[in-house]
Amino acid sequence: MTRFGLDGLVALITGGGGMIGQAVARRMAAGGARMALADMAEPGPVEGDCRTYAADLADITQVREVIARTLADFGRIDCLVTAAGVTSLGSFESITPEEWDRVHAINLRGVFLANQAVIAPMRAQSSGRIVNIGSVLAKNGGNPRPWIDPGEQERAGNAAYGTAKAGVHALTLYLAKELAAHGITVNAVAPGPIASPMTTSFPEALVRQIPAGRMGQPDEVASAVAWLCTPEAAFVTGEIIDVNGGLWMD
Ligand SMILES: NC(=O)c1ccc[n+]([C@@H]2O[C@H](COP(=O)([O-])OP(=O)(O)OC[C@H]3O[C@@H](n4cnc5c(N)ncnc54)[C@H](O)[C@@H]3O)[C@@H](O)[C@H]2O)c1
Repeated sequence: MTRFGLDGLVALITGGGGMIGQAVARRMAAGGARMALADMAEPGPVEGDCRTYAADLADITQVREVIARTLADFGRIDCLVTAAGVTSLGSFESITPEEWDRVHAINLRGVFLANQAVIAPMRAQSSGRIVNIGSVLAKNGGNPRPWIDPGEQERAGNAAYGTAKAGVHALTLYLAKELAAHGITVNAVAPGPIASPMTTSFPEALVRQIPAGRMGQPDEVASAVAWLCTPEAAFVTGEIIDVNGGLWMD
């Protein structure tokens, strides 16, 4: 088994029970990392040294509890990967304030809370890796092409989601700059459509727009995340890495 320079690192994955979270956990565990997985319901463990925690990660008290339990169980946190999130579909006009708040609560506020909570332990170590999962939808104004198919707007509009992810990208840049001198890198991985429960109803017409001609795989996101956590990536910070098959290039 190829090692990825992750030997012995302690990695906390939020959304660790989800498709991408599990793929990241498997990949990092295969590289020798010790895993802490947190999700709304206790996630299935991955092979290796792995602890699992159930928590609502939009709630500040529960986020802090997860960080405290990880520190109690492992003694340190080297890597934080924020992969917890929910999706939301609909035209801009149809988004209710309640839906906006529901999506932003975990997709942006939850990321803020988890990022903030690991700063102190990482600063005390003078090292750390934070990788936030963003999205192509933070960059491209969404996928719908209503001039071709008016129904696409309802099936693929997602401004509540895209704005939260844009916030995640900006948060990543701000925190990267603030922590750079402390040996802590902060980056984001911005996937395009990845085959997962979130995208089972992804319209075929949109898949055809992806230059690679297919949706991505969770493992392809996991590879980018894992690399950002290796010593090789020590000088990479404040970067948003696209993993989108060419759907959006910037
Ligand atoms: N699948 C895609 O195409 C795609 C594309 C771009 C970005 N993303 C992002 O990747 C991340 C992972 O998505 P996925 O595709 O694995 O979806 P997923 O639904 O399989 O995983 C998301 C996980 O987050 C958890 N979660 C949601 N709200 C939570 C809360 N309040 N507290 C704790 N856990 C909570 C869910 O229980 C779930 O296990 C998300 O941030 C998503 O926005 C996914």
